[in-house]
Amino acid sequence: MADSGVRKRKNAKSSEDSGNNDSAAERARKDSDAAILKHVLLAVVISASIFLYHNWDYARTFIRAKTRGSIEGWDFEAKSKMSVDLSADAPKRDAVVAAFKYAWSAYERDAMGDDEYHPIGKSGSNLTDAGGIGYTVVDSIDTMLLMGVDEEYARARKWVAEGLSFDRQGNFNTFETTIRVLGGLLSAYDLTHDDIYLERAKDLGDRLISAFSTPMGLPLSQINLAKREGVPDQDNRGLVSTAEVSTLQLELKYLSYLTDEEVYWEKAENVMKVIKDARIPTGLASIFLDPNEGKFAIGPIRLGSRGDSYYEYLLKQYIQTDRAEPVYREMYDDAMTAVHTHLIRKSETEGLTYTTEIIPERDRQGKINWRMIPKQDHLVCFFGGSLMLGAVTTGAAGDHVSVPPREDELTAQGKRDWLTGVELVRTCMATHETATGLSPEIVHFRTPNDGITSEHDWYIKGARPGHTPYDARYILRPETVESLFIAFRLTGDPQYRKWGWGIFEAIEKHCRIESGGYASVLNVDALPVELEDKMETFLMSETLKYLYLLFSDDSVVPLSKYVFNTEAHPFPIFHPTIRTGFS
Ligand SMILES: *[C@@H]1O[C@H](CO)[C@@H](O)[C@H](O)[C@H]1NC(C)=O
Repeated sequence: MADSGVRKRKNAKSSEDSGNNDSAAERARKDSDAAILKHVLLAVVISASIFLYHNWDYARTFIRAKTRGSIEGWDFEAKSKMSVDLSADAPKRDAVVAAFKYAWSAYERDAMGDDEYHPIGKSGSNLTDAGGIGYTVVDSIDTMLLMGVDEEYARARKWVAEGLSFDRQGNFNTFETTIRVLGGLLSAYDLTHDDIYLERAKDLGDRLISAFSTPMGLPLSQINLAKREGVPDQDNRGLVSTAEVSTLQLELKYLSYLTDEEVYWEKAENVMKVIKDARIPTGLASIFLDPNEGKFAIGPIRLGSRGDSYYEYLLKQYIQTDRAEPVYREMYDDAMTAVHTHLIRKSETEGLTYTTEIIPERDRQGKINWRMIPKQDHLVCFFGGSLMLGAVTTGAAGDHVSVPPREDELTAQGKRDWLTGVELVRTCMATHETATGLSPEIVHFRTPNDGITSEHDWYIKGARPGHTPYDARYILRPETVESLFIAFRLTGDPQYRKWGWGIFEAIEKHCRIESGGYASVLNVDALPVELEDKMETFLMSETLKYLYLLFSDDSVVPLSKYVFNTEAHPFPIFHPTIRTGFS
């Protein structure tokens, strides 16, 4: 699809006007001209067919590009002249609600109250043997409230009141529990002002903050909720993930705001201070921190797993407290410049903007060399929308930014981030050019002399007939539709809705299970699809919520009043009463 802007059909030469008083000879000449023309046309059709036959891949890409559309670059002036319609597309919005009900009712039938759901086996499971913590129920509540599915909501609320407990003797992931469960409770409280959610949130928050009892206050990756004790990660030399420690702040700060208790805020903010002090010269963040030293460990640098939401929450912390804490703006701007300098690349022939990873390798002398890997996780697809949101926030030249932004409303950096964001969304859509129309978990991009042959500039590493690599799966992830939602709200460009609808249709076609619910696809590029028996909780909390919002009118969770946590739970933007940031 990348080249649709480049390939243009040549205009056919217009035929010359014929005179009125044709002589017989003239007519005869014209007849024979017509006969020649017929032969020429026939030859053209035949050779076109042969060409199509031999170049089907090429043709398919071209046809897809034409039917799916594409946004390449961003012509500020032309886009500003388009009429902007942000009203709801009710039939599509309602189709998303029906999909949510289809997912929820299967879960409720087979696994109500269990943390996770397996729709093919029609069973549930818990994260630990100690019993469930409402992983799926709590994650889904605000989606129900927004969609107005009242009966389902009433039963979910009853379960929270009667079945939810955090007194579990098991080790839970600090970050996941915070973003899904604490985040879900806080958002449910904001939408209902029902005290049950705030009570539960406070109970969970009080347990979670014990993970922060480390020398520098960086939280350990796991927490025993009953013992109120942090548990170090056995797998990663006791290091903690950068994204995990820096993606608890929106939740804990909002909990402080609601309860008037500073302790959550202080724990969360201290982490940001440690990270700021640990800054490395490139301005980039390694994906691991040493919790004892409070320093970045030498490790990979990327926008994908363990890195992603660090960048997301720098911006969102600035937004959450109504732009009252400039330190997050500085940290975000610094990080975005570093990302542009070190991690953004353009692909070989299709000109797709993508992000890379850089990994450290020790040579024989023990010296560290950095190697670039042209690998992009599906997770990175949040980043297109995030950059666009950042562009109209920290990149705004004045107080007002239009929808879509006018060129003079953005600073130079704002324009840079906007354009990269637009292009990254386009790249993520290009990775949906698969047999299923779903995008894989991880893509690699071709680099000069890598010996790879593939239809596109991107490919699924290790994919070959009869072999399905891990990278090829689609596990119902939300990141692309998240970016499409943000991009649509900020531009009103209908292309973003078209793309979102295409993804929704692909999910309906390939992930929906006859007996109820949705499952993960093992290989997005193989038909018929093979499924994996898991319906991730983020299908109901994020993927379907962002699709619902994409087709709703812009008064539903307006971006001027709300900020989404990394699990798509919306929190209201507020003015801080506790602190106004550190420096
Ligand atoms: C999950 O935990 C809950 C609460 O302890 C329990 O009722 C349920 O049976 C558990 N589910 C499974 C599949 O073990």
